[in-house]
Amino acid sequence: MKFAVLAGAALLAAATQPARAQDAAAGEKIYAQCRVCHQVGETAKNLVGPALNGVIGQKAGTREGYSYSEAMKNSGLTWNESTFAEYIQNPRAKVPGTKMIYAGLKDEKRVADLLAYLKQFDAAGKKAE
Ligand code: HEC
Repeated sequence: MKFAVLAGAALLAAATQPARAQDAAAGEKIYAQCRVCHQVGETAKNLVGPALNGVIGQKAGTREGYSYSEAMKNSGLTWNESTFAEYIQNPRAKVPGTKMIYAGLKDEKRVADLLAYLKQFDAAGKKAE
């Protein structure tokens, strides 16, 4: 009994510690869901969806050479932690008419991990240390 309580406390402590590298690593696994349509990295190209290098901080629908939906072009959004999270949790609710076919990722921790992963890439696709 005592052991179980202690183990529980240790788990809780681990879960509440800031662990950015771990978050990004977890996010990379979740990013597998996005990879069929999106690329990141120095050789990233626009595919079904636009390349996502440096997307956090960028105005929505503005990547050069990619043909966005009118809905995305006119969304007026800038991608930051909250707009990104809302979009990924429910793309069609955040940007009605978006042509991104993705049901949504509801789990906030997983969305945060995904964000930690994507934030590593600057506009040129270089990964920050
Ligand atoms: C089936 C293909 C597909 C999948 C899967 C997909 N996307 Fe997309 N994504 C798109 C398309 C297409 C667009 C362009 C939307 C538009 O123009 O309305 C887009 C747009 C975006 C944008 C806006 C980019 C910009 O330049 O404004 C972000 C951010 C984004 N996707 C992130 C993700 C993430 C993160 C995932 C994985 C959780 C994901 N997408 C999964 C196809 C996809």
